[in-house]
Amino acid sequence: MHTRDFLYLAPLQGFTDHHFRNAFQEVLGDVDRFYAPYLKMAHDGTLKEGPKVDVLPANNPFEKVVPQIMACCTEDFLVMADYLRNLGYTEVNWNLGCPYPMVAKRDLGSGILNKPDKILAILETVIPTCGLKIGLKMRMGYEHTGDILNLLPELNAFPLTEIIVHARYGKQLYAGTCDHDRFTECLPLTSHKLMYNGDINSVEDFRELKTKFPTIQHWMLGRGAVANPFIFEMIQEDNLDFPEDRNEVFLAILLLLLESHLNTNNNDGNILLKMKHYWEYFSSAFHEGLTYYRMVKKAESIAQYETVLEKILLETN
Ligand SMILES: Cc1cc2nc3c(=O)[nH]c(=O)nc-3n(C[C@H](O)[C@H](O)[C@H](O)COP(=O)(O)O)c2cc1C
Repeated sequence: MHTRDFLYLAPLQGFTDHHFRNAFQEVLGDVDRFYAPYLKMAHDGTLKEGPKVDVLPANNPFEKVVPQIMACCTEDFLVMADYLRNLGYTEVNWNLGCPYPMVAKRDLGSGILNKPDKILAILETVIPTCGLKIGLKMRMGYEHTGDILNLLPELNAFPLTEIIVHARYGKQLYAGTCDHDRFTECLPLTSHKLMYNGDINSVEDFRELKTKFPTIQHWMLGRGAVANPFIFEMIQEDNLDFPEDRNEVFLAILLLLLESHLNTNNNDGNILLKMKHYWEYFSSAFHEGLTYYRMVKKAESIAQYETVLEKILLETN
């Protein structure tokens, strides 16, 4: 029997776009699938431009990307599904997890989790009509983690590819801990492939979760993977040590990421700001991370940023 664990990169709007995914794939390539940040409708009924461009096949030369949409009605769901089907995608992930109040109060993201009838009605319509396989990525509820207990048994009636569960509730935002006891309660309630997501930031975290949930074979990593792209390889090898050439390889990823942005955007200031945001995550994976972050923040041009990168990653060890 095949028992390897499958590891997936979570969608993180502003971070795991095609620039990041492609740089990652080109240099490391050990993620089973990437999930793209969500598409959503603009107020004028068209699709928001950034995520729309992010999923274009020309920007995704490898076939490992699952696009995601955020919708609270059948009409919007079908508009986005049409767009994706016409681009050649065969599967879509429905975002039932976004926690932000502005989103949730419109029954989008995690805001719809306490209205199971609405979710089921949308699925009933879109499954036979949208022409795509559908998977879900959800929190466990909106105001508490109990919503999922009502929802999971109902979802067994639908042909879903998977259910990815971020083991928090929406109103928690990113605070507090994941509710592992609730996740355990979910296991017997679903006949679907269940994927665990939430706070896997190290090999130790993964080991602990694997011990808690031995039947789970599918895992999604977000912030921990942006901070440390080597985590997929380290988990698969059950190895606590970074690869020996960590800094050289990381530099190669960062230079590709930078180059990809420079090729599509001529606003150096914006690009520099974006790279500095990434370092909020990257810095947490280094002992001297805070020092590195300060050095990066001082860079005033792309050239200075490149010099700082080389200094940090090739000289300071
Ligand atoms: C900055 C940021 C952006 C996110 N964007 C999305 C998104 O577009 N779609 C989605 O389903 N989840 C999104 N998430 C949630 C992550 O995919 C993931 O579920 C969450 O961070 C928990 O996993 P982690 O602890 O491994 O990061 C985002 C999270 C963060 C921090």
